[in-house]
Amino acid sequence: MFIIELKDLFKSYGGIDALRGLNLQIPKGKLYGLLGPNGAGKSTTLRIICTLLEPDSGEVLVAGRNALLSPRMVRQQVGYVAQEVAIDKILTGKELLQLQGDLYHLKRSFKEQKISELVERLDMGDWIDRRCGSYSGGMKRRLDLATGLLHNPSLLILDEPTVGLDIESRSVIWGLLKELRNQGTSILLSSHYLEEVDALADEMAIIDCGRVIASGSPESLKKKLGGDRVVLRVREFSDDEESLLVRSILKNIEGVYEVVINKSQGFSLNLVVESEDVLPRLREHLNEENFEVFALSHSRPSLDDVYLQSTGKTLMDAELELAGKRDLKLEKKQSMR
Ligand SMILES: Nc1ncnc2c1ncn2[C@@H]1O[C@H](COP(=O)(O)OP(=O)(O)OP(=O)(O)O)[C@@H](O)[C@H]1O
Ligand SMILES: [Mg+2]
Repeated sequence: MFIIELKDLFKSYGGIDALRGLNLQIPKGKLYGLLGPNGAGKSTTLRIICTLLEPDSGEVLVAGRNALLSPRMVRQQVGYVAQEVAIDKILTGKELLQLQGDLYHLKRSFKEQKISELVERLDMGDWIDRRCGSYSGGMKRRLDLATGLLHNPSLLILDEPTVGLDIESRSVIWGLLKELRNQGTSILLSSHYLEEVDALADEMAIIDCGRVIASGSPESLKKKLGGDRVVLRVREFSDDEESLLVRSILKNIEGVYEVVINKSQGFSLNLVVESEDVLPRLREHLNEENFEVFALSHSRPSLDDVYLQSTGKTLMDAELELAGKRDLKLEKKQSMR
């Protein structure tokens, strides 16, 4: 069962195409990550799901119902934590939570209990009675998350929940998200941090230029790239015969997919293997042949490799490219003044 289904969504802002036929199916009860560089269309997608923005065309189903026709139903089920933190400066955190609880029409006793529970869970006790104007980014973000959770939403949507945060705030937020997911809340979060999606998401989609370019579990996406990389530093082979022998020994080991002999940077053997479980077998077989390995390095394909394969550039390149375009626009504007 899908908690969210998006079909062929298009959205443009004036002349800027933000979504260009975006399709997505998000299973219920999972933590789902939406990964993409700046400007990919993540916030636009999330705002459409929360009914804060209408698409130009396409279908939005939340819990099987048409969100465009039943926005109230969606708002009752969804807790939304926006990318931009907009918190009143004069009120204390506690007062803000109480106000938000009143906006949700929560019963007094339920509201007070829920607030104390969230204050404790998000470790906000030391500062929740201080005015919000004095909060750090991490404190604001935790308070923001608490306001999104007051009405016990069955679907929690977070737009870049940990961007620019200190490690402690990040780990408090990650911990709570995992806990909520384990208790059955469906969670959708956007991020441009590869590690965040990799560490948290059960399933994910990579979006780029308003479209989904890959989706699945982080593991399955990386697996599609064909396995882990291993580099063995070895002594120079005495002759071609020896190199062919070593290559065939390695190739015959279960879990080894590919062996390339690299003579360019010293002598090394570059392998693609199923997983790190293969490493002890590699050493064993080479030892039996008295073939010495000077060094062994093992690396797993990253989500950046997945992005690279789908788009021909790394996430970092995509963001730099966009930042470059922005700077160029700014320069043009300034030179026109
Ligand atoms: N209100 C707006 N007016 C004009 N253009 C917009 C507006 N909001 C978004 N855009 C443009 O739509 C595209 C998608 O933006 P969106 O905010 O959805 O991306 P994003 O993936 O959330 O990016 P980021 O990681 O920077 O938050 C971008 O090109 C952006 O400049
Ligand atoms: Mg955004």
